[in-house]
Amino acid sequence: MNTADNRALRGLHVAIIMDGNGRWAKGRGLPRLMGHREGVHRLKEVVRACPDLGVQFLTVYAFSTENWRRSRREVTGLMAMFARSIRREARELQKQGVRMRFIGDRSGLSPVLQNLFAWIEDLTADNTRLHMTVAINYGGRDEIVRATRAICAAVAEGRLRPDEVSESLVSDHLDTQGLPDPDLVIRTSGEVRSSNFLPWQTAYSEYEFTPVLWPEFDRTEFERVLHGYGLRERRFGAVTA
Ligand code: FPP
Repeated sequence: MNTADNRALRGLHVAIIMDGNGRWAKGRGLPRLMGHREGVHRLKEVVRACPDLGVQFLTVYAFSTENWRRSRREVTGLMAMFARSIRREARELQKQGVRMRFIGDRSGLSPVLQNLFAWIEDLTADNTRLHMTVAINYGGRDEIVRATRAICAAVAEGRLRPDEVSESLVSDHLDTQGLPDPDLVIRTSGEVRSSNFLPWQTAYSEYEFTPVLWPEFDRTEFERVLHGYGLRERRFGAVTA
């Protein structure tokens, strides 16, 4: 079954680069963390809207491997916000049938956060209404390096032959193992870059860039972007009749 046929059997996979929290806060004379806090509200709004809008998979970029370069205050604030949000929202996510999953290099995160990830992944493991994946300490190149190391180790130990390395085998060694590739990537705040977000998985994805800052990305804007996507034709390199 090719990718296009496969898509018809499931809901959409939308990936989002939630950008512009800092600028939103600055524009209001507020600390950057207030922008992130407002961003959490928009994320909750988008999560709630997904099932109604035919989105079954949602993957969001919350913290990149490059984001450690921000001020210590902002990094600490973001980490605390992730932990608080997981604790606060667990019950609601469970009620909404959301399966939670985290991608990225967990070994670089605090044990508290690592335990919370494992706890909520386990709690929501049987949910299917929405598969939500949050990228934290995630970098696409880093993910590919980690996958390559695992594949090389399997070859070195004689568990795998080099000619058995295929696209699907590589996919199975990425953090996103088992998830379909994104159909659509949305980036807010007017920046037109992919910033190391899912480089392998988005090889055939559509992109939509909106000038709206993430703290202002509400359900109406989400619907507008999805509507625009629905009008596009995806051919996966083939020629339509
Ligand atoms: C980018 O805006 C946004 C972030 C680095 C953080 C995004 C995180 C959330 C919205 C919360 C997610 C919460 C959970 C629990 C998953 P920016 O700071 O780069 O904005 P700027 O480009 O205007 O400075």
